[in-house]
Amino acid sequence: MRNALHFIIVTILVILVTVGVYLGLTAIGLMPASASAQAIPIDWLFDLEVKLTAFFFALIMVPMFYSLFVFRRKKGETGDGEHMEGNTTLEISWTIIPLIIVIWLGIIGADNLRQVRTVDPQAVEIKVIAFQWNWQFEYPHGIITDTLYLPVNKQVWLKMESRDVLHSFWVPEFRIKQDVVPGRVEDYRVTPNLIGSYKVRCAELCGTSHSYMEKTVIVLSQADYDKWINEQTKIALIAQATADADPNPSSARGQVLYNNNGCKACHSLDGAKGIGPTWHGLFGSSVKLADGSEVIADVAYLTESIKFPNKKVVGGFSPGMPDFGLKDKQIADLVAFIKTVK
Ligand code: CUA
Repeated sequence: MRNALHFIIVTILVILVTVGVYLGLTAIGLMPASASAQAIPIDWLFDLEVKLTAFFFALIMVPMFYSLFVFRRKKGETGDGEHMEGNTTLEISWTIIPLIIVIWLGIIGADNLRQVRTVDPQAVEIKVIAFQWNWQFEYPHGIITDTLYLPVNKQVWLKMESRDVLHSFWVPEFRIKQDVVPGRVEDYRVTPNLIGSYKVRCAELCGTSHSYMEKTVIVLSQADYDKWINEQTKIALIAQATADADPNPSSARGQVLYNNNGCKACHSLDGAKGIGPTWHGLFGSSVKLADGSEVIADVAYLTESIKFPNKKVVGGFSPGMPDFGLKDKQIADLVAFIKTVK
């Protein structure tokens, strides 16, 4: 009878502590806002695991502390405790029950992954380029931005590539995270379901400025998204036609390349020391190279350094600038822009 009473008290305490720990953990707000269809099954699974964690915490802590206080040696007690052989029923149950729980978690985890990875053949395709230390987004018609615009309630298929090292695409509100491995095209499918502004962060230590590798992600209504893409397409087509028709390099086009293609992540325009040399007063100046020699920063040197960045490394800087795959005409535009930075 006494044993039954202990059992009832412990059971009640386990239930109370489970509820308390679960409510305490969820009150902290462990998750940021949920902003994608994929976040729904993930949050459901996460919530289930928090509940299980709370239950097992209670199941271990409550009997332990209960025993410490209730069954501790009373004053004057000097005898040994009761001798016990093994308990077959107990041993079988604490093997079988956890086995069933783990298999069940495996099954629902796999099903969760299936839901998250569901492919919509109508998905909107956007190219994502990761490089030290920035993100770049490419839409059809040569639209390049450093802000990711997405339509709401439509699956987006990001085809991600890295120009240099391992990066990782992570928008906490979307929940899913994907490594971007150099030499591979990584798929990332997400269906944003909440209009708003978020941040994509790099979640893989990728060098000295890893922590600055973040860009804005804007989820728009379908109408706003269509409007944005139409405007950008118009601008891109006009710019392309003008560039094609113009035989001369243009510093204005070079400036757009500087802002959109990642140059500005490493090269300042105001003389500040960045990851790469500043462009301030660069053109025509004398540049000391890492091997001790000196060159004049003329059109030939700048063109060569954009095409083959690691051929003539400037003293005090590490090699490692990626090849941005620019066309000759674009390089000429960039050099024309560098000329204007004084
Ligand atoms: Cu890219 Cu960290």
